[in-house]
Amino acid sequence: MSVELRPAARPVPVAPGAVPLLGHALRLWRDPLGFLKSLHAYGDLVRVNLGTMPVYVATSAELVNEVTVRQARSFEKGRLFDRLRPLAGNGLATANGEIHRRHRRLIQPMFHPQRISAYAGVMSANARALADSWTPGQHIEMEAAMAGYAVETLASTMFSTDIGLPAVQAVRENLPVVLKNMLIRAASPKLLDRFPIKPNRDFDAAAARLRSVIDEVVAATRRSGRTGYNDLLSVVLAAQDDETGESLSDSEVRDELSTILFAGAETTASTLAWTFHELARHPEVEQQLVDEIAEVVGDRQVTVEDVPRLAAVRRVLDEVIRLHGVTMLMRRTTAPVELGGFALPVGTEVAFSLYALHRHPGLYKEPDRFDPDRWLPERRSEIDRQSYIPFGAGNRKCIGDAFVWTEATIALATVLARWQLRPVPGHTPKEVASAVAHPDRVPMTVHPRTAA
Ligand code: HEM
Repeated sequence: MSVELRPAARPVPVAPGAVPLLGHALRLWRDPLGFLKSLHAYGDLVRVNLGTMPVYVATSAELVNEVTVRQARSFEKGRLFDRLRPLAGNGLATANGEIHRRHRRLIQPMFHPQRISAYAGVMSANARALADSWTPGQHIEMEAAMAGYAVETLASTMFSTDIGLPAVQAVRENLPVVLKNMLIRAASPKLLDRFPIKPNRDFDAAAARLRSVIDEVVAATRRSGRTGYNDLLSVVLAAQDDETGESLSDSEVRDELSTILFAGAETTASTLAWTFHELARHPEVEQQLVDEIAEVVGDRQVTVEDVPRLAAVRRVLDEVIRLHGVTMLMRRTTAPVELGGFALPVGTEVAFSLYALHRHPGLYKEPDRFDPDRWLPERRSEIDRQSYIPFGAGNRKCIGDAFVWTEATIALATVLARWQLRPVPGHTPKEVASAVAHPDRVPMTVHPRTAA
């Protein structure tokens, strides 16, 4: 599709604070979240220089919608995603064009509601195992505990047979290393990849180990013919395109599994850790949740049917994801594009921050305040649909959204029914920019709910 471009009457405004050669890289490196949040003040489209490379940041809900939905055909994934290829290969999050469309069709059945119901049993069992492992008065690092829950849940929904055990183990050991070094890798110039600095070495080694173990498990599972199980691996191995009859090769399966691991672990862990932190700061909200869980679930195990009935839990999760969401996403134009009245040629890097969008003062009242009641049915209409897109929008929208609602709701309902968590004095969690704005540490003490 060709777009006739009007010559821009004025240049795209440049964010202040650029320095020669490095551009805004230092500002982005020092305080990424503050920097991204500040950009809307300079316009709906703002130029930022990463070193010498210009990146155009869309700061309004309307322009983000243009990029992700209305003009999505003229964009592919940008530089940020190119840098993740050593880990994710050509999996769903990094693939473009026809490959993306074909794989998305093949993988979608893994996230069908019926499948999510099947995974819910694993989620519930893992949440119970976690809650059972705590003792009264114990100090827990919630960020680490929730990362453990998220990784364990992904690993056991992917690989349910004993053939998959080495992969579960490799995920446990290597995924945290990969995630820790992922943003450093994505944000630094490509030139640095070859430097043997520790974050690069650790990232490369852990990504390579993860991929080779998954390779072995995929091949062994295929050889064994044991693919009739309900796990993600079986579904993806059996997937066949209705239109073409094609299925995924072993290396394509490995890329998709690695992608799901990196896309689904930190995001979920961070959301849960922030939720426990916010609830401890707002005991009246916590009490509402405890009452709701007692009424809907009672003493039994939490099931997938409970999830839509836990409306107050959902409002809290919505508010946590709004406040601490995905830091920055990127796209690259594949055709000339007009965005906010500016002409962008082919090959232009465009970025947007869901974190900044969700804290935009023009879109939310008191945007930095934790207020789950803003999601009550009678107030929800105050928020425009385009302004709240925690899972993205358009053809690249998160494939795991229903998975994570189920997983996070089950974890919260299971833990809150048993335990009251309170912060360990002396540490206030700080946001650290990675794929999402995750907390540095959330040290908490657990108290039995009945005695609370
Ligand atoms: C709170 C948790 C999560 C958040 C906030 C989140 C957010 C997102 C966002 C914003 C995107 C779109 C990226 C873009 O437009 O460039 C995305 C894509 C994706 N997410 Fe999630 N995600 C979460 C959990 C998960 C889980 C649990 C899984 C898998 C089990 C998952 C798998 C994926 C995949 C495969 C993609 C790429 C989709 C595509 O391009 O077709 N995510 N996620």
